[in-house]
Formats: sequence, structure tokens, C-alpha cells
Amino acid sequence: MRIIIEKDYEAMSKKSAEILAEVVNEKPEAVLGLATGGTPVSMYRNLIDMNKEGKIDFSKVTSVNLDEYKGLSGDHDQSYRYFMNNNLFNHINIDKKNTYVPNGLAEDIEKECSEYDKRIENLGGIDLQLLGIGNNGHIGFNEPDDFLHMSTHLTGLTEGTIEANARFFDKKEDVPTEAITMGLGGIMKAKKILLIASGENKAEIISKLVEGKITTQVPATLLQVHPNVTIVVDEAAASLLKK
Ligand code: F6R
Repeated sequence: MRIIIEKDYEAMSKKSAEILAEVVNEKPEAVLGLATGGTPVSMYRNLIDMNKEGKIDFSKVTSVNLDEYKGLSGDHDQSYRYFMNNNLFNHINIDKKNTYVPNGLAEDIEKECSEYDKRIENLGGIDLQLLGIGNNGHIGFNEPDDFLHMSTHLTGLTEGTIEANARFFDKKEDVPTEAITMGLGGIMKAKKILLIASGENKAEIISKLVEGKITTQVPATLLQVHPNVTIVVDEAAASLLKK
């Protein structure tokens, strides 16, 4: 694992945008695995600016998102499709037809999941997978458990995740309790992984991710065996690392 420590959230965001841009500049038709949440917002803002300045071209890029809440339509302002359109896709020169987010309203969820995996395979796999990390070590919505799933699947969200995400909704009861998420297989098959984290409240999980034992109870620890992982954190998130 390559660990890059930046001063603060803004510096972490700039650095991670530069790493993603390098991948696209090297391979203009790159397949990007993207994430939502609070952490990547400023990274996406940096990418929008870089796109406007001609430093990155998304016209041939395809994107596949990690996850989507079950039961929310793409128009719902808390759906991940809405998040991606608002925070990135509407402001860059990507062809929206080449942006994929699981369909939270799919009637046949199993079919939606298997088609999602097939699509990624047909695209030739993910060149760069961007990840945030939950306080409990989830990546995508692969929550701590005795067993983890390889493929895209429907999952229940833990109480802690629902509480953490309630900040984006009017009230906690509005947070969906289930989501479709790419599995550990989909994530681990990505050629390169970029995990970003910021703030003191991520310090403990970042130390477990980097220095802890590999366990399904902290799904992100599986990244320790991936051959090409870069972690970009700010000083606060890195504050419990030993060295
Ligand atoms: C989002 C996702 C989640 C988040 C994680 C961290 O698509 O898959 O795993 O990356 O919950 O969220 P923030 O960035 O809000 O702390």
C-alpha cells in the first residue's frame, strides 16, 4: 500500500484528483469506479476545474459507481445517481450514457446485480476504483460480517451506517435500510485502487486498514492484499498511524 499524507482535506482532495487524472491521461478510455459520500466532494470539484482548464478529458471515459440505495429513484436528491450527476457528471464532458449507477428501483434486483457485474466485465474491468471508507471499515456497502460477498448484491445497512448517513437526510427514519453494492470481488479486481479519507473521526479505521489484521469484520483490511492500492489521507485521518 502506498500511503500519501496531505495537510488537510483540500490538499487531500487535490492530490487524489491528480492521481485520477493521471490514469485518464494515460488511458483516455479508462473505466473509473466511483464513490459517493462526503469525502470525494472536493476531489470531484477539483476534477471539474481540471476538466474546464483542459487538464483532463472525460469524453471517452466510462464510469461505474459502487452502490445505490434500494428504493430511491435517480431523481431523489439523496440517491447516488443524483449525487453523481450533481457533483460531477453535469459539470464535465462525460457522456452520461457511459455512466453507470445501480438501479435502486430495479424490480428484479438479482438480475440488476448480475448484469452490473457482467457490464463491468464486458468493459474490460475497472482501471481505477475510488473508495471512501466507513467508520466501521465498510467499502462500498460491504458491511462487517462473518462472510463477505464477491459479486454485486443487495445488502442491509448497519445501524452505524444508517446513523452516519442520516446527516444527509431530513431525519434518520428516511435513510433507506438496504442498498445495492458492488461486492469485494468487483472491488478487488480493479487494476488500481485509490482510497481517500479525511478527518479525525477516520483516524482509527485508517490505522486498522493499514496496520490491523485482515478480517471480514473490517472489510477494508482485505485491501492489504491488493497489489496496487494508494491511500490518500489528511494529517487528521493519519494521526493514529504508527509511522
Ligand atoms: C459511497 C460508499 C461508502 C462511503 C463511506 C464513507 O459510495 O460506497 O462506502 O465511501 O461510507 O462515506 P463518507 O465519505 O461520507 O465518510
